[in-house]
Amino acid sequence: MNKTGCFITMEGPDGSGKTTQIQLLEQVLKNQGYQVWVTREPGGTSIGEQIRKIILDVENEEMDPMTEAILYAAARAQHVKQLIEPALDKGMIVLCDRFLDSSVAYQGVARGLGIDTIEGINQYATGGLVPDITFFIDMDPVIGLKRKKDQAELDRLEQETLYFHKKVYEGYLALWKRHPGRIYRVFGQDTVENIHQQIWSKLKEKIE
Ligand code: TYD
Repeated sequence: MNKTGCFITMEGPDGSGKTTQIQLLEQVLKNQGYQVWVTREPGGTSIGEQIRKIILDVENEEMDPMTEAILYAAARAQHVKQLIEPALDKGMIVLCDRFLDSSVAYQGVARGLGIDTIEGINQYATGGLVPDITFFIDMDPVIGLKRKKDQAELDRLEQETLYFHKKVYEGYLALWKRHPGRIYRVFGQDTVENIHQQIWSKLKEKIE
């Protein structure tokens, strides 16, 4: 666990249902009396939300992969310094929708910048902060994307090809194999309640 609080991240391909699971987890943790703070990436801070707009803007077609990777890392640096570390220092549980693993899967593997390059850039950005536990919602990217398309307009990353999204998925599998102690995989093609129960029972082992 981090010095005082607990840093939990939720990861997975687009349309994997992370956000719903974060909301359910927040509720159950609050009911148990924990102090919880929910946030997301890219974003979380005012500066981070401005960076998010630039990255996800469908007009920014010409964005270079390295620019993209550095912008995600810049938003993350601000997020860690301004909000995540102070919340952990206060002993809070921080629940974050995406973090470093998203950059490794999307920019490192799918964009082809390499896992080591992305981990290196992010080492500067986060000062080495790593989640205590990460839930990877394992969802077939074809199904995830279909879900997304049915729900809302797609952003610049979501508009990428199916090939790109399959690479993202491969990236997550590689990460899960690389960090078996930290990343816990949950199958995404189950009921919302069953997925929540699996996440909650694993998390209970960690925090109780
Ligand atoms: P997200 O907010 O999860 O999208 P939504 O809420 O619309 O499901 O993430 C926005 C997009 O940014 C998503 O396609 C994943 C991508 N992303 C990266 O490519 N690298 C990163 O480091 C992060 C945090 C997100």
